[in-house]
Amino acid sequence: MASIILQNISKWFSSNQVIKNIDLNIKDGEFIVFVGPSGCGKSTLLRIISGLEDLNDGTVLIDDLDVTDKIPYERGLSMVFQSYALYPHMNVFDNIGFSLKTSGVNSDILKKKVGEVAKILQLEDLLHRLPKQLSGGQKQRVAIGRSIIRKPKAFLFDEPLSNLDAALRVEMRLEISKLHKELGVTTIYVTHDQVEAMTLADKIVVLNEGKIIQIGSPHKLYNYPKNLFVAEFIGTPKMNILNCIKKEEYIYLDQNKKTNIKTKKEKIFKLGIRPDNIEICKSEKNILSGQIKFCEYLGSEQYVYVDCGINNKLIIVKIDPNIKVILNEKIGLKFISKYVHFFSKDGLRLI
Ligand SMILES: Nc1ncnc2c1ncn2[C@@H]1O[C@H](COP(=O)(O)OP(=O)(O)OP(=O)(O)O)[C@@H](O)[C@H]1O
Ligand SMILES: [Mg+2]
Repeated sequence: MASIILQNISKWFSSNQVIKNIDLNIKDGEFIVFVGPSGCGKSTLLRIISGLEDLNDGTVLIDDLDVTDKIPYERGLSMVFQSYALYPHMNVFDNIGFSLKTSGVNSDILKKKVGEVAKILQLEDLLHRLPKQLSGGQKQRVAIGRSIIRKPKAFLFDEPLSNLDAALRVEMRLEISKLHKELGVTTIYVTHDQVEAMTLADKIVVLNEGKIIQIGSPHKLYNYPKNLFVAEFIGTPKMNILNCIKKEEYIYLDQNKKTNIKTKKEKIFKLGIRPDNIEICKSEKNILSGQIKFCEYLGSEQYVYVDCGINNKLIIVKIDPNIKVILNEKIGLKFISKYVHFFSKDGLRLI
């Protein structure tokens, strides 16, 4: 187990700077999740930590030791990729045991260690099978088994579950969480999946264009996003972000759509409200109202998209799934004031 410290990391691909002066402190045993839009540098940063990618500037410390010039093997980390990259001609036992075997461990110890790993990952009945005889989730478990057998100082996962179907993702997500609780190994995990990020992370690192935008617990990022980018990035469906102005304490959307929200804050440029923090009511005078244009029914929840006449923008509202939605029906909207976020002209959340 290990702490990982990144100091002022920069990386260029020819003239394109893809990682920009990143500092990050990861404590021993922490589960860190990197999120951010495609191309923002998540995989590159992970590869820099693992040693698979050179950096142009900065320092990587593992357990306070400078490993910047060390090759991947010497760093003692273990990486699991989206593609499992198992050896196709080797069975599960040999795939899991490969690195130990090549390091010269005798066959009794090898058997014991592979057995332990297979038990943790519930692969004991599959040890004789070839990769082509396994399901996606089983292959992914073998890939994880191969990486935990060496007792790495940290796990680096790059979208390990994105090739799996929805049910398997849930199963594997729980296994990864369980594994982290059992082994307590420092973990860095890249994902596009909001649920994975929210459920697995001790801390989420939000990246954009090669920079860290915010670091914090899932609860912190969801409830206190520091700017518009994080507000819109964390949470599905997205937070509604609406242009607004204040007139005599009340907030108006656009220029003239009065809301129920009052505030003493000044210099407000945008209002943010999540779909689950809006209540619907009967459309009445003096209440923000609009027409339901779309509805998404998901069984346990339901979202309506409401046109309040705001500049090409529909407001998404989460409603009781048992409500029978009538398209084009006019409804009133009330924002729950304690969950309203305000943003300044430069996109920062107003505290
Ligand atoms: N070997 C390379 N040569 C040149 N540019 C590269 C190389 N690898 C990555 N890049 C560029 O670096 C940037 C960051 O890429 P990276 O793969 O780290 O993004 P990512 O955040 O992992 O994206 P995704 O979510 O799509 O996997 C991108 O603009 C990408 O095109
Ligand atoms: Mg990537």
